[in-house]
Amino acid sequence: MNQLRINLDNALDFIDSKKLEQYDTQTVDIIQHLEENTSDPSNFLGWLNLPSEIEENKIREIEETANSFTKKLDTVVVIGIGGSYLGAKAVIDALSPFFHTREENPEVIFAGHNIDEDYHHELRELLEEREYGIVVISKSGTTTEPGIAFRILKKHLEDKAGKEEASNRIIAITDAQKGALRKLSNEKGYKTFVIPDNIGGRYSVLTPVGLVPIAIAGYDIRGLLKGAEKMRKDTLSTVPFAENPSSLYAAVRNELYQNGKAIELLGIYNLKLYCFMEWWKQLYGESEGKDNKGIFPAITQFTTDLHSIGQYIQEGRRILFETILSVDAPQHHLTVPKAEDDTDKLNYLAGKRLQEVNTMAESGTRLAHSDGNVPNISISIPEINEISLGQIIYFFEKACAISGHILGVNPFDQPGVEAYKKNMFALLGKPGYESESQKLLNRLKKQ
Ligand code: PA5
Repeated sequence: MNQLRINLDNALDFIDSKKLEQYDTQTVDIIQHLEENTSDPSNFLGWLNLPSEIEENKIREIEETANSFTKKLDTVVVIGIGGSYLGAKAVIDALSPFFHTREENPEVIFAGHNIDEDYHHELRELLEEREYGIVVISKSGTTTEPGIAFRILKKHLEDKAGKEEASNRIIAITDAQKGALRKLSNEKGYKTFVIPDNIGGRYSVLTPVGLVPIAIAGYDIRGLLKGAEKMRKDTLSTVPFAENPSSLYAAVRNELYQNGKAIELLGIYNLKLYCFMEWWKQLYGESEGKDNKGIFPAITQFTTDLHSIGQYIQEGRRILFETILSVDAPQHHLTVPKAEDDTDKLNYLAGKRLQEVNTMAESGTRLAHSDGNVPNISISIPEINEISLGQIIYFFEKACAISGHILGVNPFDQPGVEAYKKNMFALLGKPGYESESQKLLNRLKKQ
């Protein structure tokens, strides 16, 4: 099977090997603790064994539902924010062509992750011409951004296709019992899937939250689960520290953090993984940034950003380390053509594959950044496909849980997300927020 590989050579130069050894028993203890505490839903550990526990009938139900959408619709809008959309978008973007939509499957468009008026207006205009359906995803069923998008698009779809047909074209993915979306789904008879109680949003990509949109886009959810299952086995507590990629990654990044490297830049050289970085950013940002601690997760697209923040990486404040996610083999084959005049002096590259140029850019950058005191962790996959994506998803989820525990934070909550919501509700006059509202308005007046 395709195998994810981790190379720490350019990071180990920056840390004391004795210190790294101390993470051996600690990471094994953490994984054992995770493994032993899956039964209590309040521990949010349902993702840990998900790839081996997901039932065949659930997978089939997702595939059948996706097929029925594929037959009748040319477009599906997936509504969700944070963990309720990023995993699906990451996988679909990674597997999809850059410049066109595959004809056999509906185009998947995302909404509900912003409150931009122009975005919603233009989306509605586009959907005028489309036979579309909606997959609305919200675990709580009460999140403002997807709530607004769903309200707008549900009305649009009902006006366009009629109420009964609209209800046939809406899938809701939400809590089994609670929340406004569950209530509405029961009333309207929407097809529903459940987000398990014991899985938080950002760990939910291998539940219907990710699997339904990915299957609708035409990708192999079984391959994704197979890759994740392989990584689950490769990261069990019984796997020695030195062979456990998630433990090694978690340990090295924490040791670098202890040495003053407070920012981790996840970088790619293969553009299809851009949204995968967004998924990673959310996973690590929400899991670790709390109690005044945490590595700040930032993302960068190379070689593009070598002509932008590359300058900072090379010579700015030495508070960065990099994790580069690379792909051994692209899907296509393209070489640099020879030019008779060679005005641009690029004939020395003639006949070389772009992949070779990209790989040399990557190797040269790694060495340059390492010389500039930026440690580098390298994670690579043989190619972008469902199996390797399943592996990296599980690899990063497991590492995030281990890393959060090393850091001494709860990697499964996100209390800080409430602060902006409270202010926004008060400023918008939501009932129950009246006293806060006046205080905030006075503060804003002074600014
Ligand atoms: O990781 C998380 O828990 C969050 O990012 C949520 O996924 C996000 O806030 C959306 O929440 P909900 O699915 O309840 O609408």
